[in-house]
Amino acid sequence: MSIKQVLQIGHPVLAARAAEVDVDRIRSAEVQCWIDDMIDTMRDANGAGIAANQIGIPYRLFTIEVGNNPRYPYKPPIPLTVVINPEIEFLSDETFSSNEGCLSVPQIRGRVDRYVHIRVSYYDRNGEGQSSEVKGYSACTWQHEYDHLDGILFPHRVTDPTSFCSWSVFQEYQQAEFSDEVRNLVEKWGA
Ligand code: NI
Repeated sequence: MSIKQVLQIGHPVLAARAAEVDVDRIRSAEVQCWIDDMIDTMRDANGAGIAANQIGIPYRLFTIEVGNNPRYPYKPPIPLTVVINPEIEFLSDETFSSNEGCLSVPQIRGRVDRYVHIRVSYYDRNGEGQSSEVKGYSACTWQHEYDHLDGILFPHRVTDPTSFCSWSVFQEYQQAEFSDEVRNLVEKWGA
């Protein structure tokens, strides 16, 4: 287990579509080591999630975890989840304007429309198939991580370029209002 360097926007491994993990290899020492490195790197950087290609591993898996996160104090908690070969189905047309940042995009945040009710299907780190509904703000986090596997970073999805702002400007001028928006979303959808 070790903390890896996080690749930055424009790196060719981040920009490419990642490959499916061979399900028979999920329990191998190599894939288990990838997962442990992802968890260590995510936690070290206070990320809410990290995709394998962000640490140079060009395969379709990511981890998500939200506790008391200083980078994202308004995010509802998500237990540590290891997600391999995910598929996402949208269960509602409703979207939320999510103000996002990314470990691979230094300094900048921006607004991205995300669906708020999805079904996720994936393999866990034991190679077991999983399927569940994800609602509210947590659904935004899932879609952000899933996008990484297709080489998509949040700036690629920003439709209003005037929404780009620095982290410090966000904290000073926008975070309180955005936290209210997240709270309203969570009250409606439950996560
Ligand atoms: Ni990201």
